Amino acid sequence: MTVKPMPADAIQTLVSYRPNFGKKISKSLIRLSVNENGIGCSPLVEEAIKRNDIDFYRYPAQQDEDLIESLALRFKLKPEKILIGNGSDELIYLLCTAFLNPGDEAIHTEYGFLVFPQAIKIAGGVPIVAPDDNFTVSVDAIISKLTPKTKMVFLANPNNPTGSMISDQELTRLIVSIPKSVLLVLDWAYYEYVTSGLSDAAKLVESNNNVVMLRTFSKLFGIAALRLGWGYCPPDILATLQSIRGPFSVNQIAALAGRVAVEDIAFQEKSVAHNKFWMNEIINRFNDMGVKTLEGQANFMLLDFRNKNGPSAAYISDHLMEQGIQLRDMTPYGLPEMLRMSIGRTDEMEKFTLCLRKILLQEAS
Ligand SMILES: Cc1ncc(COP(=O)(O)O)c(C=O)c1O
Repeated sequence: MTVKPMPADAIQTLVSYRPNFGKKISKSLIRLSVNENGIGCSPLVEEAIKRNDIDFYRYPAQQDEDLIESLALRFKLKPEKILIGNGSDELIYLLCTAFLNPGDEAIHTEYGFLVFPQAIKIAGGVPIVAPDDNFTVSVDAIISKLTPKTKMVFLANPNNPTGSMISDQELTRLIVSIPKSVLLVLDWAYYEYVTSGLSDAAKLVESNNNVVMLRTFSKLFGIAALRLGWGYCPPDILATLQSIRGPFSVNQIAALAGRVAVEDIAFQEKSVAHNKFWMNEIINRFNDMGVKTLEGQANFMLLDFRNKNGPSAAYISDHLMEQGIQLRDMTPYGLPEMLRMSIGRTDEMEKFTLCLRKILLQEAS
């Protein structure tokens, strides 16, 4: 046997989560597969980047104070509790690295974001699945999975990929049931799209020293390309994450873009309105076509092709792809008969619904 360096045990057995977006991002592809902001980003961001006065030879700030100030003002938060990261993904990895010893358990939900189990495993932890109840997070299931080995609980709300959301009351029930030694990570990536029924998780961070909230600039703020996310954390947790974070993981262009994006409230409102309109419109059109949907308040929904008498998810996905329209295959999430669709531009949504109608008609004839 060849002797060679071997990765850590946890890494050797890892099924790596690598979303497949196609060979190359072409401008003409209608990409409804990644939950990006369908209408792009604020034009002010593009302008600011073009006329930026960044000194490219200088390292960026370790934590950009202007960006933190803008976030604190926009969301009425305490600046000293904000931690900026290279996408919220980075913060998920940092949290696992910081709070899991090998063999510790971390709970995530059945159809939850796949980065959670990946980050748990890389840190040497054991991912524990709490089954959903009808594609919605079950607080009872999470509570039933708590053991003395539990160190963390991950909850995305609204959840990706199901789009479903649990209420403030359910959240409160979860928080009081979790021991104070267990870290609860509230991933509010799609919170900016929610128009009713959910509060800003920051209040829960203020009142519980074992709760962290994560937010991102990749969704409503539309700057996924630049990789920017942030966390709202109790002081001890923030200090721990700071101490292990790469000092310069957020670049200066991202920080500048984030600040401008957060201050452009008109663009945020326009994005929310566009999303709300199309989420409703798609449901109406799909009901007409007999396509079942699992919708929520985020910027995406699951299309359900489990009906054995109808076309399969793979058939629909392949035929849409032939027309240059990409939806997300849900096989890695254990939902092979579902496709996830995010809201795109108006012309894209028109073309998408037209193509889907044609495919369904052809298949039925
Ligand atoms: C629930 C959830 N959390 C976090 C992320 C990652 O966000 P970021 O682009 O900030 O790393 C995503 C992206 O799809 C997500 O769906």
